[in-house]
Amino acid sequence: MKPDVLIVESMMPETEARLEAAYTVHRLYNTADRAALLKEAGPAVRGIATGGRLGASGDIIDALPKLEIIAINGVGTDAVDLERARARGIRVTTTPDVLTEDVADLALGLMIAVSRRLCVGDRFVRGGRWPTAHMGLSASVHGKRLGVFGLGHIGRAVARRGTAFGMPIAYTDRGEVADCGYRFEPDLVGLAKESDFLVLAASATAETHNIVSRTVMDALGPSGILINVSRGSVVDEEALVAALAEKRLGGAGLDVFVHEPSVPQALWSMDNVVLMPHQASATIETRRAMADLVLGNLAAHFAGREPLTPVL
Ligand code: 8YV
Repeated sequence: MKPDVLIVESMMPETEARLEAAYTVHRLYNTADRAALLKEAGPAVRGIATGGRLGASGDIIDALPKLEIIAINGVGTDAVDLERARARGIRVTTTPDVLTEDVADLALGLMIAVSRRLCVGDRFVRGGRWPTAHMGLSASVHGKRLGVFGLGHIGRAVARRGTAFGMPIAYTDRGEVADCGYRFEPDLVGLAKESDFLVLAASATAETHNIVSRTVMDALGPSGILINVSRGSVVDEEALVAALAEKRLGGAGLDVFVHEPSVPQALWSMDNVVLMPHQASATIETRRAMADLVLGNLAAHFAGREPLTPVL
């Protein structure tokens, strides 16, 4: 008997095919009547496979009385009701490490794209404007001051790349990270004040909710650039839109938003902003490695072994 697994957030077709080979799969993401699916299949479901974006809400967990494990295809646990899971002894797993380098690559890509105006240039050429106009100058990336908020695996990978670009690096975290070689700045406003680029790589928690406030953005200032590869909720998005519109902030490179897939319309027309649809880990190589962990975690659990990469 294959265990029943509920897919909450869609995954690569090949990953879903692998899930289907091993489990009786139910798909919540393409179901018109979610309540009916949960009612019908819910009592049998023993595992959830989901993404970092949609996670598993308390309502979903409550609808699955036999749920044993939630395998997240990502590192963020913010969309999973961890309290509910903990209270019921449900295992929760993520896909650490395998996505670190791709997320850091995208952070650097956004820094370069905003600063060197890559998307503006692309639109300029495609719009046929090159023969008759100048696109104007951009700003250097190398040698600029890099501030990293959250010096976990991803933050460190961003910092390593910054070092290769000759950037002086400082960071803010809960505490000083021993022997990391970067300057610790305990206060995020202080970090922003002394950064040309502020890269957000901290997890979304109650503590970091809206922590990138108007004050932080004003400290980063009119030539500062904010890069977010963490979660939309870390930034006060209304304040971000206002800071960009009022030119109190120089630019932004954003892979994540508060109400994905909805992105504030005011950002769409801003040339100093580069927008991505939550793609930092979305390479074929990384998504395959993440899938191996999702499948590996579920398989280990259902074989009665400890999951490979549990957080709960
Ligand atoms: C994925 C993520 O895009 O790791 C995370 O927390 O947000 C990303 O890697 C996501 O898990 C897919 O929804």
